[in-house]
Amino acid sequence: MEPAQESIRPVSIQLPVSTQTLVQAIGARIPARRRLAERLSTVHAKRVVHQMTVENVMGGMRGMPSIIWEISETHPTGVRYHGKSLDELEAALPKWPGSAQISPEALLWFLYTASIPTQAELKYFAEDLMRRCQLPREIEDFIDSLPTTLSPLTHMQMTYSALAKYSKLAAAVDNGVSKANLWTYALEDALDITSRSILVISRIHNNFYGKDRKIKPRLDMSGDLAKNLAICMGRSDDFTFIELTRLAWVLHQDHGANVSAHTMRLVSSALGDPYSAISAGITAGTGALHAMAIENSLAYNKKMVESLGLNPSREDIEAYILRDIQAGAVLPGYGHAVLRVADPRLAWVRRFIKEYPVPPPANGKAPTTSLDLIQRMHDIVPDQIRTYLPKVKNPAPNVDALSGSTMLAYGIEADFILMFMANGRGMGFLCQSIWDKVLALPIERPQSITMDRLLAKL
Ligand SMILES: CC(C)(COP(=O)(O)OP(=O)(O)OC[C@H]1O[C@@H](n2cnc3c(N)ncnc32)[C@H](O)[C@@H]1OP(=O)(O)O)[C@@H](O)C(=O)NCCC(=O)NCCS
Repeated sequence: MEPAQESIRPVSIQLPVSTQTLVQAIGARIPARRRLAERLSTVHAKRVVHQMTVENVMGGMRGMPSIIWEISETHPTGVRYHGKSLDELEAALPKWPGSAQISPEALLWFLYTASIPTQAELKYFAEDLMRRCQLPREIEDFIDSLPTTLSPLTHMQMTYSALAKYSKLAAAVDNGVSKANLWTYALEDALDITSRSILVISRIHNNFYGKDRKIKPRLDMSGDLAKNLAICMGRSDDFTFIELTRLAWVLHQDHGANVSAHTMRLVSSALGDPYSAISAGITAGTGALHAMAIENSLAYNKKMVESLGLNPSREDIEAYILRDIQAGAVLPGYGHAVLRVADPRLAWVRRFIKEYPVPPPANGKAPTTSLDLIQRMHDIVPDQIRTYLPKVKNPAPNVDALSGSTMLAYGIEADFILMFMANGRGMGFLCQSIWDKVLALPIERPQSITMDRLLAKL
């Protein structure tokens, strides 16, 4: 029999003490935010905030402030989380003991509540997440049954779809729980998903990379999620890997309604359960213009190393890039729909590379990628783009130009890198999804229009 937590039709939910503090912190913010939503939807309902142009319509809704996203915002100069930059948050948020990175759990707490957790709240929060860390047997069997001819990301996406039957929110909707109370069930799912994600990733990893999956890892119930992921992946002694996991989850946690986050919100707005929303978000990330740029940047660097070696001259690099520009290729890791400067998150990856020595490639093999070469390209490519591709609004590198190659350099297999990003993004979205429910935001339904009707309006 499955443990009580796995019940598909919960009538009421008993929250552990640690979760109550998170619920209290969210609850403290609810009245003011609901009052503001009410005022905007009534008193100000008909005020004009944006003059919509044909360019907005033809340009994939760029520049239209049309989605409420409470937890973060992307400005041309960088991401703000409840109005704060990552640098400000680094100074303000408690760190996990022994870690030099921002704690993903501390950032999550901040995204959920807009308040800085105390060290004790961070500890209780992490303990609550670890208490939830289990997978139903049928899901373990399902993961183990998937063929490794499919990609790890496909396994991850399918696993979240399969987990949807355990959604407490879906059960609450079926049971007719009132709209105003749905957020507590959504929060339950959010915390379950955040916690069990490490079991999903590590189980898939072990199936692909040959560790004995029948040995149940002994979780460290007083550790954080990154430490426990490392335990489950057989890398518990690898401090650098644990720190890099924390960094990857933080850098990819949230930045407004980008493609994957918006996809998850769209599914969720129709009362889709959070597991299915995460599954859809993973799918959304597979596009070359979005998260897949992480893998594509890595592949681009590999090809360049194959062709030019590890330390080519500036002229060779310029000629190589120019050939691609002239062929009409997308240069992965450059450009951004909103940012108009080099992505500030890049500095965080660069700092990591400086602080933690890159391990030599396994088995004494020659390296196939070069973090030095990638960083040299960050100085060369923007000039090339300015000269030969002036239509690109932001020629600077984005975080994807370095994050994947860095993870590979520290021993994360190329086809697993996207899973770290997907996991961080999912955790971040789940914070927003609670507020969607608190504010009773409606199903998303933009009005579509044909080009002929658009023309007729002019
Ligand atoms: C991120 C991205 C999708 C933003 O697209 P956008 O909002 O349309 O950006 P822009 O307004 O600057 O695009 C203007 C034109 O330049 C092109 N462009 C932008 N970045 C480019 C790049 N890195 N390589 C080639 N062409 C690029 C666009 O495709 C567009 O071409 P079009 O007018 O023929 O349709 C785009 O910069 C891109 O494809 N980058 C590479 C993939 C990547 O790194 N994605 C991860 C982003 S975090």
